[in-house]
Amino acid sequence: MLKRKNININFLYDIYSSIQDDYEKKFNKEQFFEFILKEYNTFILSEPNPVGYLKATIIKDQMEIISFVIDKNYRKKGIGKTLLNKTLLIAAKKKISSIFLEVSVENNIAIDLYKKVNFLKIGERKNYYSLNGRKVNAYIMKLNLP
Ligand SMILES: CC(C)(COP(=O)(O)OP(=O)(O)OC[C@H]1O[C@@H](n2cnc3c(N)ncnc32)[C@H](O)[C@@H]1OP(=O)(O)O)[C@@H](O)C(=O)NCCC(=O)NCCS
Repeated sequence: MLKRKNININFLYDIYSSIQDDYEKKFNKEQFFEFILKEYNTFILSEPNPVGYLKATIIKDQMEIISFVIDKNYRKKGIGKTLLNKTLLIAAKKKISSIFLEVSVENNIAIDLYKKVNFLKIGERKNYYSLNGRKVNAYIMKLNLP
C-alpha cells in the first residue's frame, strides 16, 4: 500500500506506466498524481513483482475498486489473485465492511476471479461500458468483510 509520505511518486508513476495492458487508458502523470494524492484513494501494486496494480477509492467503511490490471505478459500466474487478496487484507485493516466493483458481463476471467475470493453479483448496470461503440452491461459485485 502506498505510504504517501515515504514514497517517491515519480518512481511509482514510472512503475505504473511501465505496466503493459490493453485494457484501460492509463492516467497521464498529472492525472496519476491527482489520483494518488487524494487521501481517500488507494493505489496497490502487486508484490514482489510490481507488474500489476489496483486502484480503489474509500468512502467511510466502503471500498470501490476502480481498476485492477495485471501486465498482459504476466497473466495466469496467480499474480492477480494475490493482489486481490492483498487488497482484502488492507481493506480489513482499514475496517472496511464492504467492497464494491463493476465488471463487464463479458469479462468471464475477472468474474471467475472475483467469485473465487467470494464476491457476489448483486446487480447489473445497463450499458455501463462502451467497447468500440458497442454498449455492454456491467455486473455490480460486492464482498462483505467480517
Ligand atoms: C483479470 C486479471 C487481473 C487476472 O489477473 P491474473 O494475474 O491473470 O489472474 P490469476 O493468474 O491470479 O488467476 C486467478 C483466477 O482468475 C481466473 N483466470 C485467470 N486467467 C484466466 C483465463 N485465461 N481463463 C479463465 N480464467 C482465468 C481463474 O479463475 C484463475 O483462477 P485459477 O488460477 O484457480 O484457475 C487479468 O486477466 C487482467 O489484467 N485482465 C485485464 C484487466 C481486467 O479485466 N481487469 C478486471 C476489470 S473489472
